[in-house]
Parts: sequence; structure tokens; C-alpha cells
Amino acid sequence: MTAEPHALELEDLVMHFGPVRAVDGVSLTIPRGRVTALVGESGSGKSTVGRCVVRLVEPTAGVVRIAGTDVTHLPRRQLRRHRSRVSIVFQDPAGSLDPRMLVGDIVAEPLRLSRTRMSRRDRDARVAAELGRVGLRAEVARRYPHELSGGQRQRVSIARALISEPMLLIADEPTSALDVSVQASVLNLLADLQRDIGFACLFITHDLSAVEYLADDIAVMYLGQLVETGSREQIFTRPAHPYTQALLSAAPVADPVRQRERQQVLLGDDLPSALDPPSGCRFRTRCPLAFDRCATEVPAQIGYGDGMAACHLVRPDGTRPDVRAADTSEVLS
Ligand SMILES: Nc1ncnc2c1ncn2[C@@H]1O[C@H](COP(=O)(O)OP(=O)(O)OP(=O)(O)O)[C@@H](O)[C@H]1O
Ligand code: SF4
Ligand SMILES: [Mg+2]
Repeated sequence: MTAEPHALELEDLVMHFGPVRAVDGVSLTIPRGRVTALVGESGSGKSTVGRCVVRLVEPTAGVVRIAGTDVTHLPRRQLRRHRSRVSIVFQDPAGSLDPRMLVGDIVAEPLRLSRTRMSRRDRDARVAAELGRVGLRAEVARRYPHELSGGQRQRVSIARALISEPMLLIADEPTSALDVSVQASVLNLLADLQRDIGFACLFITHDLSAVEYLADDIAVMYLGQLVETGSREQIFTRPAHPYTQALLSAAPVADPVRQRERQQVLLGDDLPSALDPPSGCRFRTRCPLAFDRCATEVPAQIGYGDGMAACHLVRPDGTRPDVRAADTSEVLS
């Protein structure tokens, strides 16, 4: 028997918007039933990756494979089939739900688009079940989005995304537009649904604390490229790339002992422009460990533990730099 194809495979994905190099060579695999968190600062290209996967935009180059099928340049007609295998939940539920549609019609829309034949009664039952699954009462189907709270609206988006039983869910900052008080409950809901249903998920976020209990694997993005990938455990305990280390040092952690032991690394300046990324290592203008070679040579992706890191100071033998030692200089001799 041949192995089942992965839920998602990205091969050297490139998405340029004219001169803007939003995504510049991203390769990533999400096995079935697993959650990969895509983390990075605002403007690093995370949403663009997600939009390429659901084909809201057509990639400039590279390959997007869903369940083994190349969907990179699928014509419109065949996209419909693709759309039932992958769904997306956006950051802002107010903007992504049509205000003139009843919630029941919104949730049922993917069934209509995939031309699933169904009696009105079956459809309503299916919508009620889906609403129940996301913790909403069936009556909500007869309301309009504006009659609901932000958290309820995002639950509606999740119900709509899951009704077609996708193999892959793209969740693009699904809680960052919500009130802090409801963020945890929506994240918990997503985590529970993922465990029960077992869909694969690309979870896009800049919030590393949300990643800690939802993701199996983590991919760290910087200025259109992945700088590090690995299991959650590895990224949190032994991050290799200076950028990952800096991100982690800035994120709050639940464990008070670890929190106390931490030493924060400040990144300073903003992300450089995707119009004109720095030569060599794109992170070099902010890296506390940068040295001559970083300006002239693009760092290769070095296999590191169960993932990879793209930094000249990471070695295949497992040697990794430590940004916290940066100001004492001579980090690695
Ligand atoms: N349609 C577009 N036209 C031109 N530039 C774009 C377009 N979409 C995105 N960009 C640019 O591509 C880069 C990556 O944007 P993207 O939205 O993917 O980043 P992001 O990591 O999702 O950021 P955020 O955390 O703010 O959501 C940015 O420089 C952005 O301005
Ligand atoms: S290659 Fe150089 S600039 Fe880039 S992360 Fe490594 S040390 Fe820093
Ligand atoms: Mg985004």
C-alpha cells in the first residue's frame, strides 16, 4: 500500500505582487490531521501563503498540493472541488460574513457552492448540527451576523468552514480581532474540534502563546521566507534561529519559573521592506549575531533536529547560536 498523500505540500511557493516579494520560496508539508503554526511578524507574508493555498490568489511560482493534487493553476471550474477540501477562517468575522445573509444561509453556503443535493430539511438539520458543534444554538440560524457578538460571529465562520468537512483548515489569526476575554474560548473550541474531527490545519498567528497548546509543528516566517521549522517541543525548548529565539524571548510564557529565567532580546527596528529585502540573510539588519558572511551569502536550510534552520551559525551537528549571549560577543568561535 502506498502512503496517503499529505494534507498540504508547498514547494518553493512564490507570490510577488509586482515588485513586492510577499512570499519568496516557501516549502512546507502538513501531514493529515496535524496542525502547523505559521508564525512571524506583521508583513512577513503569512496571510499570503494562506491565500495561495485556498487559491484566493494564483501563485507566481511554485507548487501547492492538497491531498496530493496539484491545485496551483486549477481552472475556475475545478476549483470548486478543491474548495470543499480546504477552508479558511479569516481574522475578522465582521468583514468575512455577508451582513445581508442569515447565519443559516452563511453556514450552508459551502454546500450550495459544492452543489451538494440536499432537501431543505436535511440542510437545516446539517446547519443546526454544525452550529451545535461550535457551541451555538440552532436558533442562531435565523439571525443576521450583526445581531451576534464578535466571538459568536467567529464561531459562525468556523461552522461555515467545517460544514464541507475539509481535510485542511487555514485559520488566519482567527482570534486576534476578538475581545481578549473571548479569545481563549474560541482557541479552545478550535483545538477541541481539531482533536475530534482530525482535520489538518495551517494556523497563522503572531501570538506564540496561542501556538503552545494548539500546534504540533511550527514554521517561522521572516520577510517572505521560512527561517526555521520544527516540532512545537523543539522550537520552544531548543530554538536554533536567532529570529526564533528573539520572538520567543518576547512572548509571555505560562510557566513562572521559565518566565523569570528569561532574558528578553529586543529586535529593534521594524521589518525591512519586502520591496527590497537585505542581501544575504534577510534577518541580518536586525540580527544581534550578524557577521560579514551574512551580508554576502544566503544561509542554506540546515537540517536541525526534527526540522531545519536557515542561519550560518547553525551546523548539521546540532550546534546552534544563542542570541542572549550576543552582547558578550565571540558567541561562537
Ligand atoms: N494584494 C497585495 N498587493 C500588494 N502587496 C501586498 C498584497 N497583499 C499583501 N501584500 C504585501 O505583502 C507582504 C506580506 O503581507 P501579508 O499580509 O501576507 O503579511 P502577514 O504576515 O499576513 O501580516 P499580518 O500579520 O499583518 O497579517 C506585505 O508587505 C504586504 O504589504
Ligand atoms: S545568518 Fe547571520 S544574520 Fe542571519 S540569522 Fe544567522 S547569524 Fe544572524
Ligand atoms: Mg496576515
